[in-house]
Amino acid sequence: MHGILKELTSKINFTNDLKQDITTFLSINRCPKTAQHCVEVGSEARKIAERFNADPAEAEIAGWLHDISAVFPNEQRIAAAKELQIDILPEEEAFPMIIHQKISRVMAQDIFKITNIEILDAVGCHTTLRANSTKLDQVLFVADKIAWDQTGEPPYIQELNRGLELSLTHGAYSYIHYLWQRKESLKVIHSWLREAYEEFRTSFGGDPA
Ligand SMILES: [Fe+2]
Ligand SMILES: [Fe+2]
Repeated sequence: MHGILKELTSKINFTNDLKQDITTFLSINRCPKTAQHCVEVGSEARKIAERFNADPAEAEIAGWLHDISAVFPNEQRIAAAKELQIDILPEEEAFPMIIHQKISRVMAQDIFKITNIEILDAVGCHTTLRANSTKLDQVLFVADKIAWDQTGEPPYIQELNRGLELSLTHGAYSYIHYLWQRKESLKVIHSWLREAYEEFRTSFGGDPA
């Protein structure tokens, strides 16, 4: 295991219960709220997977893992990504919050020994999605937006739910379209989000329903 990750796990006795281990890991590293959010996104991802014929167990695991990099505060994220030999895009350097998806992916592999590429990839693009996204990518992306980590109802929930009535991909596109309409107010536009948006816009022939 990589040195900077070893430090974060030194006080933990891992069991064979992944959900429990992730919760313990986040709580010991002073992120109890993220632990709760990850459990909630896991449950939501399972529901979405059942609704759209994805693998519910994989979806739930991806939800539990998606924000484990919260243990690195924003100001440490670029340094952590460099240590972990992650490719850093200019927009991530400018706005380090969005690199947390890539750090979570490496941590899932290195700390929690996840080898399923579909799960790792979904964790690795849960904030921005990406072009050619898989069903599991879209399940986790949508679940994280429904079970969001802030209080009250998400402002985009109606559009998102309307999209989901048509299909999983419509749901994902509805949320990206919501962001796109407000793109002037976003700190940065991640190139993966732009690529996902352009791909959906082309394949849907315009705006989502
Ligand atoms: Fe996240
Ligand atoms: Fe999240």
